[in-house]
Amino acid sequence: MAGLLEGHVAAVTGGGSGIGQGICQAYAREGARVIVLDINLDGAKETIGLIEAAGGAASAIALDVTDREACKAAAAEIGRGGKISILVNNAGINRRNPITGEAAAVARDWDDILSINLDGMFNVTQAFLDQLRATRGRIVNIGSIQSFVHVSWPNSAAYTTSKHGVLGFTRALAAELGKDGVRVNAIGPGLIETRINAEARARNPEMVAMVMRHTPLGRPGKPADIAGPAVFLASDMSAYVTGSIIMADGGFRTI
Ligand code: NAI
Repeated sequence: MAGLLEGHVAAVTGGGSGIGQGICQAYAREGARVIVLDINLDGAKETIGLIEAAGGAASAIALDVTDREACKAAAAEIGRGGKISILVNNAGINRRNPITGEAAAVARDWDDILSINLDGMFNVTQAFLDQLRATRGRIVNIGSIQSFVHVSWPNSAAYTTSKHGVLGFTRALAAELGKDGVRVNAIGPGLIETRINAEARARNPEMVAMVMRHTPLGRPGKPADIAGPAVFLASDMSAYVTGSIIMADGGFRTI
C-alpha cells in the first residue's frame, strides 16, 4: 500500500532529537524523502540511521535556525536537489527561570528562546517560501499548551510568549498563503518525554504529578504521539485544514 506522503520531500528542523526525530521517522515510513535540519549534526545523523535502517530515505544539513543567511543557503542547496513540499518548524529550546530572576540571565533566556523558537521559525519559513508555494506545500509548526496558557512547573515567560507567537504566525501564514494552496497548521503537544524537559522532570517529580492530574489520559506523551497528527497535517487527509492547531496533550486543556 502506498504511503500517505509518497512523492513528498519534507524538511524538519530540530529533527535530530525527540519530537522532531519521531516526525522524521513517521514521514519516512509514509514514503517522504526526509531532510533533517539540526544544529546538532550528530543527532541528525542518528535520525538518518534510524530511517535508513527502516528502509527509508533521509539526509541532513547542520543548520542553526537563528542564522538567517545559513537558512537561505540551506534552502538553496536543498532546492537544487528537488523542492520541498513539507516544512516542519520544530526546533526549540526552553529555560525555566522566573522573570524575577537575575536580570542578565533572564534577559539572555529571553533573547535565546525568542531567537530560536520564533525568529528561527520565521527564518526557515521565509527561506523555503518559494519552494513551498511552487509545490503547493504544507507547513506544520510545533506550538504547545503554552500557545494558550502559561504552565507554571516552573516555566519562563519567554517560552510562553514564543509559543503564543507560533500560533499567531500559523494563523497569519494560513491566511496569506491559502491562495497559493499552501496549508499552514500547528500542533500543540502536552508533556512529551524528551531531552527538553528531562532535567526538569528528574528534578521536579511533584510538578510532573501536577501536570498528570491535569491530563485525562493519565500519562506523559512520547514523540510517536505527535507523529500521527504531524502525518495527518502533512498529508492530503487534511486537504481542507489550514490555520488550525491540533492539541496532542492528553486532554490537558479540558480540565
Ligand atoms: P529536544 O530537545 O529533544 O529537541 C529539540 C531539537 O531542536 C534538538 O535536536 C536541538 O538540537 C534542536 N535545536 C535547538 N536549537 C536549535 C537551533 N538553533 N537550530 C536548529 N536546531 C536546534 O526537544 P523536543 O521536546 O523534541 O522539542 C521539539 C519542539 O517541541 C520544540 O519546539 C518544543 O518547544 C516543542 N514542545 C515540546 C514539548 C515537550 O513536552 N517535549 C511540549 C510542547 C512543545
